[in-house]
Amino acid sequence: MRIGILGSGLMGGKIGTIFARAGHEVIFSYAQSEQKLKKLAREAGGRSKAGTPREAAQEADAVLLAVHWLRFDDVLKQAGDLSGKVVLSCSLPMNEQNTELVVGRTSSAAEELAKKVPKARVVSAFNTVPSEVLFAVYEAGRNAARPSLVYCGDDRRSKQVAAELIRDAGFDPVDAGPLRIARYTEPFALLVGQLAYEGTGGPELAYRFELFRPARQKE
Ligand SMILES: NC(=O)c1ccc[n+]([C@@H]2O[C@H](COP(=O)([O-])OP(=O)(O)OC[C@H]3O[C@@H](n4cnc5c(N)ncnc54)[C@H](OP(=O)(O)O)[C@@H]3O)[C@@H](O)[C@H]2O)c1
Repeated sequence: MRIGILGSGLMGGKIGTIFARAGHEVIFSYAQSEQKLKKLAREAGGRSKAGTPREAAQEADAVLLAVHWLRFDDVLKQAGDLSGKVVLSCSLPMNEQNTELVVGRTSSAAEELAKKVPKARVVSAFNTVPSEVLFAVYEAGRNAARPSLVYCGDDRRSKQVAAELIRDAGFDPVDAGPLRIARYTEPFALLVGQLAYEGTGGPELAYRFELFRPARQKE
């Protein structure tokens, strides 16, 4: 696939590099220096290159949006029309200091993004994983037990694309349902991040996922 990276920092830089190593054609865009984008593309290898957000988005089969939530408007303006595009968002709706979720429980970064680009096909993915583990998971390869990675969205085809890319990155994709589920998975991502950074001295919190099936209707 041709993949446009909008935001080439910790997440975009690493996930883009992994996609390139998995054989995709990647365009890195949106960093504060062009040098950084060129270096990323060189190091990622394959058919990677640096480009503008517009170049990254317009020719892409899928776009990864990996910017701070407060930068959505700026990056979307630079990317141009995303109608019909598969847009994977790993963004979390964090405050300016990156210490708290600002819309947790009532909405999510992915849902807010979908309102801004209603004709794009938004999938929330890769936000439940700290950037530090991405290379290790990818490099562990096919034989390792794959960690699960939840994703959600409203469009079936874009979710298939997301699942394929999640698998290429070394994870086991778990479909968590429609996009509105992102408001529950995004706070979960913070928990995972906190545990990753604070280790066993971190907060004791647990999440339990259950699959609810509707009761069978009487025939
Ligand atoms: N890091 C994680 O472990 C993690 C995990 C899950 C979800 N997330 C979410 O993923 C998203 C991205 O996080 P991140 O850690 O990858 O952030 P990051 O490292 O700060 O990357 C953001 C990218 O945006 C670029 N950028 C910022 N301001 C810019 C500007 N004015 N003009 C052009 N480019 C600009 C940065 O450029 P420079 O590289 O030049 O600074 C960088 O490439 C966030 O929403 C975060 O909440 C992160």
